[in-house]
Amino acid sequence: MTQDEMKKKVAEAALAYVEKGTLVGVGTGSTANMFIDALATIKDDILGTVASSEVTAERLRGHGIPVFDLNEALAKHGRLSVYVDGADEFDPLKCLTKGGGGALTREKIVAAASNKFVCIVDASKQVDALGAFPLPIEVIPMAKELIMHAAKDMGGSPVLRAGFVTDNGNDIVDVHGLCITDAKAMEDLWNATPGVVTNGIFAHQGADVILMGTPEGVVTIA
Ligand code: A5P
Repeated sequence: MTQDEMKKKVAEAALAYVEKGTLVGVGTGSTANMFIDALATIKDDILGTVASSEVTAERLRGHGIPVFDLNEALAKHGRLSVYVDGADEFDPLKCLTKGGGGALTREKIVAAASNKFVCIVDASKQVDALGAFPLPIEVIPMAKELIMHAAKDMGGSPVLRAGFVTDNGNDIVDVHGLCITDAKAMEDLWNATPGVVTNGIFAHQGADVILMGTPEGVVTIA
């Protein structure tokens, strides 16, 4: 089975977590795109969606799936029933690294507004400890040099993502080579660094369920 076939399988498996008549949070990336395509087959069963990026909103609308603004959705309908998204890495505690596509801030917000986070990945994303994938940090532009210095002080090698601006008008710094032995502590450390909008560690709110695509089929890690 190819990597794309594994992604498609987990995207389709995630439909089992979509509750009729509710709002669904939708992530960003190639696996989330496959989920959007699968969601289109049951679009009449749901109230609508909240998107974690402009590109995801565009794809959802392209399928004729309603997309709500998060504030409007929460005010009118309350919390989202489920958030479905991919990840760049996941560890045995279901902590994640996200942000390879640069949508980490809205992803963390929509995940926080949802009752359950179902993470859809292929087996290549499974790691013993986070850190092999460079940690994406969304930063206020005036603080990017400050953040790059902070990253070096932590033993990392920061690289400014060239030519990339987030949906929120900010920069992304990718930090290579961090040794992440305690994902929650590392998430806290970056959260406490002035100029950081969001860091890509999802440890305090990791996945509730991981659907992992393998050559043998979908493995559920709950
Ligand atoms: C987007 O910003 C990321 O958090 C994605 O969820 C992550 O990069 C996974 O993307 P793929 O599904 O394309 O691997």
